[in-house]
Amino acid sequence: MNISGSIKETRQQVKEWKKQGLTVGLVPTMGYLHEGHQSLMEKAKKENDKVVVSIFVNPIQFGPNEDFASYPRDLEKDAALCERIGVDLIFHPEAEEMYEKDFCTYVDMDGLTKELCGKSRPTHFRGVQTVVSKLFHIIPADRAYFGQKDAQQLAVIKRMVRDLSMDIEIVGCPIVREEDGLAKSSRNTYLNQEERKAALVLNRSLAEGKKAIESGVREACKVKQCILDVIAKEPLARVDYVEIVDFSAIEPIADLNMAAEGEILCAIAVYIGKTRLIDNFIMKINS
Ligand code: PAF
Repeated sequence: MNISGSIKETRQQVKEWKKQGLTVGLVPTMGYLHEGHQSLMEKAKKENDKVVVSIFVNPIQFGPNEDFASYPRDLEKDAALCERIGVDLIFHPEAEEMYEKDFCTYVDMDGLTKELCGKSRPTHFRGVQTVVSKLFHIIPADRAYFGQKDAQQLAVIKRMVRDLSMDIEIVGCPIVREEDGLAKSSRNTYLNQEERKAALVLNRSLAEGKKAIESGVREACKVKQCILDVIAKEPLARVDYVEIVDFSAIEPIADLNMAAEGEILCAIAVYIGKTRLIDNFIMKINS
């Protein structure tokens, strides 16, 4: 397995594979890899001849008061995991390689990015779309793999690829959870023991919401209230948002039967102490 920080070298290697008629899967990550990333890499390995993992903590998707500086990093451990899985190439550029001093071109979107995480992180998706577009240009892969834990990100990237006619298939993969239900996240490492226990409220509250929908509730406000009631009982938790949106448009809906393609996303962001965690479920609604 090769590790390269060079755009030119990485592009050359991938082009060489393509010339040989090999298919390439890309798993874009910010590193500190966990079983969630592992499931993406394993799927990429199954579906492609070659797998590239990018490891880059992308400065432009963090707001000024967010955790860019403290975001966990461990290239050695990440490389060992990639090696075990059979990844062929890690692309690990420095920020200067990705963003020249006078960098000023961004990819942005009018829809899909204003609600949910876009509300509290107004420049986040512009940073994600820009870096993912760059990665797609540097690594002309056949398929790219993204986790459903970042469901809004997945929807945004799918839409960007469709709208800009990018020649790549976006593959969404299910959320991977700890045994007790907490969604795997690199940010879970910020939690102390007490907070780790409190963080279970995310999955627990979503389960209540899901139960309400399964029992026939179709008013979004009632489902949201079920979720909020569970979170309110956890003293270490502070809600950023609890929202139900039409998954195809990432627009809030009042009546769950009104989702354009019949699929809703119920998404939450909750601070546990100082750590902001997200979780969600996607559901087909039979009216
Ligand atoms: O999901 C992530 O880890 C990041 O947002 C991504 C897609 C790698 C872009 O930096």
